[in-house]
Amino acid sequence: MAKVQAVYICQSCGTVHNKWAGQCTGCMAWNTLVQENASAPPGALKVETSPSRISRMGKLSFETLDTVDVAPQRMATGIEEFDRVCGGGIVPGSAILLAGDPGVGKSTLLLQVTARAALNGLKVAYISGEEAVEQVRGRAARMSLSKAPVDLAAETSLRTILDALKRETFDLVIIDSIQTLWSDAVEAAQGSVSQVRACASELVRLAKKSRTAMILVGHVTKDGQIAGPRVVEHMVDAVLSFEGERGYPFRILRGSKNRFGATDEIGVFEMGDIGLREVPNPSALFLGENDERASGSAVFAGIEGSRPVLVEIQALVAPSAYGTPRRAVVGWDSGRLAMILAVLEARCGMGFGQKDVYLNVAGGLKINEPAADLAAAMALISALLDQPLPKASVIFGEISLSGEIRGVSRMETRMKEALKLGFSTAIAPGQALENAPLEVKAYAHMVNALGAFDLTET
Ligand code: TYD
Ligand code: MG
Repeated sequence: MAKVQAVYICQSCGTVHNKWAGQCTGCMAWNTLVQENASAPPGALKVETSPSRISRMGKLSFETLDTVDVAPQRMATGIEEFDRVCGGGIVPGSAILLAGDPGVGKSTLLLQVTARAALNGLKVAYISGEEAVEQVRGRAARMSLSKAPVDLAAETSLRTILDALKRETFDLVIIDSIQTLWSDAVEAAQGSVSQVRACASELVRLAKKSRTAMILVGHVTKDGQIAGPRVVEHMVDAVLSFEGERGYPFRILRGSKNRFGATDEIGVFEMGDIGLREVPNPSALFLGENDERASGSAVFAGIEGSRPVLVEIQALVAPSAYGTPRRAVVGWDSGRLAMILAVLEARCGMGFGQKDVYLNVAGGLKINEPAADLAAAMALISALLDQPLPKASVIFGEISLSGEIRGVSRMETRMKEALKLGFSTAIAPGQALENAPLEVKAYAHMVNALGAFDLTET
């Protein structure tokens, strides 16, 4: 029997250490190393060179690159916001990781997806390791999905699940969640990296072999990393994350990896009493109620995937009570905020130094586009000067470290959507736009953009 050797595996990133340490050298997280027994590392390849063995292994055949490209066929589940993020439907035999905070609505989403897919004629199974069959049934009843022909089971043993899936083939199988599964081939606690990795690799292999699409649910830790199963990320074909801020009904499904489609698409849902409702036109969702904007509020004309989305960005600047002023940001990158503040200080002489600065993206949306720089900067200046921005104006543009305002992609699409929603002016980068749908106040540099404010008092 192989010698069992104790190793220490980081539960956050999966780095293997021979000795215990307080901090993982891979991801620098503290207290994440857990002892696990590695008799044979999963997937370890035993190289045998005896000729008899090689002849038994079969021959590798090469092909040319020059073959007719067949686009993968896709199974549409019928939940369009979900299909869009998958690239137009789920590819048979693909493995998808759906990651999200506990309680964000992953099980709800997948129950709705499976029910709709089953009603559309796909053969689907929902295997829950977290909830009893009665609980899932109860939720289905609440959402009036009881009639959908979904095969439902509660099971955590990988062997039992694999046996069942070998006996009967499905188009789509949901595993909720990968952290609750355990394999008797691995000596490690349920939910540990070794277990998660072993279970996921078996399931992914089965998916490829049987052409069953597999969706694995993974819970994420507080800092946004997929707990333990970050190791799963590179085994699967697509990683979708389900996001939402507590207290807001909106939920965003975002693809962060997709071997079969674009990764910048988002799906927008609203959580209600009877499950998730699709939001096919989210452009005005994150705008807030008021037409009259207070100082510190700016409307960013953004693009999420293929769709324009208008978002309110709110800034607050207040005298600091502490030696080191606070910088807090929700829905945007804090590094980006620091950069914009530095540009405003160094290039425009705006003094934020001893002030607390808060920046918030309305509605719980997370913005990743650099095109939001100018909107954030204008919100910050507006808050600092206590002057509202011009009425009915939208803002977009990227700011460079020199303070220059750069053009962004799809400026016309952004403006057209704003026009539809009743905006009349765009505060935009210097490139003159011919036949722009809105009146454009174009600025080439942040110093010029200050012209949107009355600076006589300061
Ligand atoms: P759930 O799908 O169990 O989350 P996850 O699987 O990601 O842990 O969602 C649980 C939350 O969703 C819970 O806080 C209640 C809420 N919810 C609703 O608001 N309305 C509904 O119709 C359902 C089914 C859930
Ligand atoms: Mg769940």
